Amino acid sequence: MSTSDIIITPSILCANLSCLQAEVDTVASADWLQADVMDGHFVPNLSFGAAVIKDLKTDLPLDIHLMVTNPADRIQEFLDLNVANITFHAEVVSSTKDRKELIENIHAGGAKAGIALNPETALDRVGDVLKDIDLLLIMSVHPGFGGQGFIDHVLSQVQTARSAFPDLMIQMDGGINDTTAKKCIDAGANNLVSGSFIFGSKNRTMAIETLRCL
Ligand code: DX5
Repeated sequence: MSTSDIIITPSILCANLSCLQAEVDTVASADWLQADVMDGHFVPNLSFGAAVIKDLKTDLPLDIHLMVTNPADRIQEFLDLNVANITFHAEVVSSTKDRKELIENIHAGGAKAGIALNPETALDRVGDVLKDIDLLLIMSVHPGFGGQGFIDHVLSQVQTARSAFPDLMIQMDGGINDTTAKKCIDAGANNLVSGSFIFGSKNRTMAIETLRCL
């Protein structure tokens, strides 16, 4: 996979939220921008909703990662912002019918639909909808916080998904930096979410380029 195919997605959870627009301006060379929406119930942390990002000025496609117990209740506020992608977690939408309905509703609202798996959730949990989604997010940390360590065992899941779905966008998220990014790309991921490595760097443009060219 050529480096031009790799999408680099800074996670604003790790930005200085007191000056979010200025922070977002520093990562303009990225490909996407991810907003981690956390409800303090599905994950043990509370982050932000559409109100915090609605006035952001960016040319980057907005990628909404819903770490919430009731994603169906949250999608409209983000669809109203014309976001590019909305990802929900397989762990909270258990029936095929509900998953398909959520994916259809996200598509009907003009966004791409992604499904996320926590590190301990098996790929076959979502086998019923893998052909319907635009993005598969395989978490390489337990969701809820930035700055955690990369969980290596998820790489085998990425390899399995890539072999089965050569054209699917496979995103990885959590602990991705200049040492772990290559493992992700080699396993078959083509969209890398990075928070603390990018926002913790003095030269964020350089950090983004480093991830893209590994
Ligand atoms: C964790 C979030 C990640 C996190 C990434 O629950 O979904 O997007 O902010 O931060 P790092 O790259 O520091 O793991």
